[in-house]
Amino acid sequence: MSLAPHLRSVVEEIAYEMRQRSDRGTVARYIPELARVDPQGFGLVVIDADGTIAAAGDSETPFSIQSVSKVFTLTLALGMVGDALWKRVGREPSGSPFNSIVQLEREQGVPRNPFINAGAIAVTDVILSGHQPREALGEILRFMQALANDPTIAIDEAVAASEKRTGFRNVALANYMKSFGVVENPVDYTLGVYFHHCAISMSCRQLATAGRFLAHSGRNPATGLSVIPPERARRINAVMLTCGHYDGSGEFAYRVGLPGKSGVGGGILAIAPGRASIAVWSPGLDESGNSHLGRIALESLTKRMGWSIF
Ligand code: DON
Repeated sequence: MSLAPHLRSVVEEIAYEMRQRSDRGTVARYIPELARVDPQGFGLVVIDADGTIAAAGDSETPFSIQSVSKVFTLTLALGMVGDALWKRVGREPSGSPFNSIVQLEREQGVPRNPFINAGAIAVTDVILSGHQPREALGEILRFMQALANDPTIAIDEAVAASEKRTGFRNVALANYMKSFGVVENPVDYTLGVYFHHCAISMSCRQLATAGRFLAHSGRNPATGLSVIPPERARRINAVMLTCGHYDGSGEFAYRVGLPGKSGVGGGILAIAPGRASIAVWSPGLDESGNSHLGRIALESLTKRMGWSIF
């Protein structure tokens, strides 16, 4: 029997419940483009193994994907250099905020994992190697467009410019890693690409489509494309589970029980292996910088569908 009618009603119920809640978290305020996003926004899209799309709320509204882009840059960098990537970045949870610098000194400039800012900057530096920033950025954007089967996905240039104007900590992290040789390219080239990939805008529908390869052993059923080998998909999911929500990763695993990656724009991509790719967006954040209602909605979804991996 098809799960689709049940899934659709669960998704609609959750969106309805989230709409009613007054605890919406706090919208990121470090740049004006994020500070003015309406905290009432909420979107949820689930795409199951058959390609059934269950969507509710603001599922077509583009939002700034921010750190969710780090899943896709990790995938690209692993495709380029394979396991050699793990010499430049670790794969252990940090237990620290996403923009923390403290571990870098103790660990010779090698960031704990590819999802904290330092780690994502190191990954971006790998993608950049041997290319001009424009080419590397084009590569990242085309990869996202191909995965989402949607050539309209674009970078929000105003967000990118604001990130660059205010990104002092990222400048510090990149320079610090450069001093250890972990960042190899000119720091402003690497940061330019990093700020721009964080500034990609996508809707929940586009994001859930782009994530499908992670739910289906590396193959995106929407495009028929084998994106990565099954073993690599499994490993990326493992890093998402342990590191995808910074110092809130334990709480996310405990409550939701799925690999997931959040961004300060309020988006979360969550993967139910073999079952579904899920994107949720609610711009109010919790104290770790993860979507407050996004996490609550995912907790409710996995509970009702029985989708926790544990
Ligand atoms: O580099 C930054 O700080 C932002 N562009 C992205 C951070 C982010 O999304 C952290 N997520 N919760």
